Amino acid sequence: MSEPVLIARDVVAGYVPGMPICHGVSIDVRPGEIVTIIGPNGAGKSTFLKALAGLVLFESGTVHCLGQDVSGRPSHELIQLGLGFVPQTGNVFTGLTIHENLVMGGHTLSAAELKTRLARTYEQFPLLAERRSATGGVLSGGQRQTLAVARALMTDPRVIMLDEPTAGLSPRVVGEVFASLRGLAQEGVAVLMVEQNAKAALRISDRGYVLAEGRNRMAASAADLLVDPAVGEAFLGGKRHAR
Ligand SMILES: Nc1ncnc2c1ncn2[C@@H]1O[C@H](COP(=O)(O)OP(=O)(O)OP(=O)(O)O)[C@@H](O)[C@H]1O
Ligand SMILES: [Mg+2]
Repeated sequence: MSEPVLIARDVVAGYVPGMPICHGVSIDVRPGEIVTIIGPNGAGKSTFLKALAGLVLFESGTVHCLGQDVSGRPSHELIQLGLGFVPQTGNVFTGLTIHENLVMGGHTLSAAELKTRLARTYEQFPLLAERRSATGGVLSGGQRQTLAVARALMTDPRVIMLDEPTAGLSPRVVGEVFASLRGLAQEGVAVLMVEQNAKAALRISDRGYVLAEGRNRMAASAADLLVDPAVGEAFLGGKRHAR
């Protein structure tokens, strides 16, 4: 099996110095793998992804991304290195058009690269091409999520992190978002997501982690987590777990 391209070890991070939310979280993600983090509300899942993305106070621990030590590096450096991040909220500029949002996603690219990537994005997501002049604010939840993912893909990330990519979407659109993540993984992209939609997310994942109170609680194959009674009861909608 290939080496992990994202390795976090004992990450301590938060918003206020000396008052961390993540108390030493560790994860690995390999190329082509989909890894899902689940856990109760307030467990620190979003904070952890933001710590890896260079968006919150990084107190200690290490993060290696694509062979480089990126511990505590700012987000623009991580984007240039090949890390994409789709945050839980505010993932689309609602006052800007679809086109402008995509251009923002590609702001680190040269003019020539930007042109090529925009063309590729519109080919890949015809819906965005059709509505390129519509502002983010008038899009449906599914369209907005598609735009958020497409924007993160503008820089061709080798590692992509998504915070609740299917929140608020209809089951059909959830399926579409997950299908696009599978497609990315098949191209060798390492996918790390946080999901409340735990059962559906684990079904398309290779492995999963349970986070609680800012700490690792469990790490297992997605298949094992899906049939674990404790996980089922807490996160997968009751005692009758997936089958
Ligand atoms: N911007 C912020 N400033 C200060 N504290 C914050 C901030 N954002 C989150 N927190 C605190 O960090 C803790 C963990 O929040 P976080 O959003 O990481 O949890 P989560 O596991 O993603 O929860 P959810 O499942 O509800 O999205 C919470 O106690 C929250 O109040
Ligand atoms: Mg969250």
